[in-house]
Amino acid sequence: MAESTAGIESLGDLKGKRVLVRSDLNVPLDGTTITDDGRIRASVPTIRQLSEAGARVVVTAHLGRPKGEPDPQYSLEPVSARLSELLGRPVAFATDTVGASASETVAGLQDGDVALLENVRFNDGETSKDDEVRGAFADQLAQLADAFVSDGFGVVHRKQASVYDVALRLPSAMGGLVAAEVDVLRRLTEEPERPYVVVLGGSKVSDKLGVIDNLIDKADKLLIGGGMVFTFLKAQGHEVGKSLLEADQLDTCTRYLREAADRGVEIVLPTDVVVDTAFPSDDREPQPSVVPASEIPADALGLDIGPESAAAFAAALADARTVFWNGPMGVFETDAFAGGTRAVAEALTKVDGLSVVGGGDSAAAVRQLGFDEAAFGHISTGGGASLEFLEGKELPGIAVLERG
Ligand code: 3PG
Repeated sequence: MAESTAGIESLGDLKGKRVLVRSDLNVPLDGTTITDDGRIRASVPTIRQLSEAGARVVVTAHLGRPKGEPDPQYSLEPVSARLSELLGRPVAFATDTVGASASETVAGLQDGDVALLENVRFNDGETSKDDEVRGAFADQLAQLADAFVSDGFGVVHRKQASVYDVALRLPSAMGGLVAAEVDVLRRLTEEPERPYVVVLGGSKVSDKLGVIDNLIDKADKLLIGGGMVFTFLKAQGHEVGKSLLEADQLDTCTRYLREAADRGVEIVLPTDVVVDTAFPSDDREPQPSVVPASEIPADALGLDIGPESAAAFAAALADARTVFWNGPMGVFETDAFAGGTRAVAEALTKVDGLSVVGGGDSAAAVRQLGFDEAAFGHISTGGGASLEFLEGKELPGIAVLERG
């Protein structure tokens, strides 16, 4: 996909040039405390590369989903401080995106300096569905720079002004992070080494339909856990108590089970489940118990795959040469329900081949559970973006760069 897309070197000598970089700095915050800085760290190499080339680096990014106007809880200011620490150099923070503060900040940059603009989604033009409105905002962004580098892999599936439209207005190139992500994900879709095992979790089947459709005839085994598994268990005729259930997806799950059987793809579902009578909350101690997946009590809900299933999933991963994992196996944020996710992560670290953790919650889980990131082949910074890539969809932020 990205083979024909030029990297930063295609922009020529960047000394003294203002370069707008779209990064994905959308990190989880607890108040103003960053709880997982993985995306900031992943964004540093490209920013540093541009700075070392003497560019005046202007970073634009989003945080959360504000409603097209300033909203202090989504300010990028805490991110600016962390970016500065990781870069080991000051980062000038503009308190708006295309207003007076942005113009002054950019005008004040010397060669090699770095600035971060306030949340790009504080402007309604960024996410507008109206091409003209988005384009007008992209014009303003483009005025701040001489060239554009697209490095926010987590947003390349969004047709948004700072991802798509700005690339139509400035000499543009793909940053190293996006190039690396695309390269790894392509290896999952084009002749993956076998056995190829896909592990899917997370809460909703409906979020994973495209990827299941696309991978069901590419993978050798599909391991399913997380909240989405209860719709599969129900489709098999089991009662699932109060567990998450997408009743409108039952027919789809039945079809997947049948198709997999027809194609010789093994779908592995849990045989035991960790249940409780309520979802974990601060004011109640968890009371976990393990039950067979076919005997979930009516007053209980499944919150993790059980130990027997965790061992079976690990065994199914043991001889894999290619693995893609997206979505936790349970409510890993609570220790009592983290066992399945921990077991899958552990098994991935032992894979002799390519292991890819597909962004979002699974990447956060890996870090939160204390795994060494280096033990995985690749941890994607994009949740939705990596899924859409594997669904075979065109990603606007990449397609626009390929137009040359
Ligand atoms: C993500 O968190 O997956 C990316 O930052 C994209 O965010 P979005 O889903 O709000 O566009």
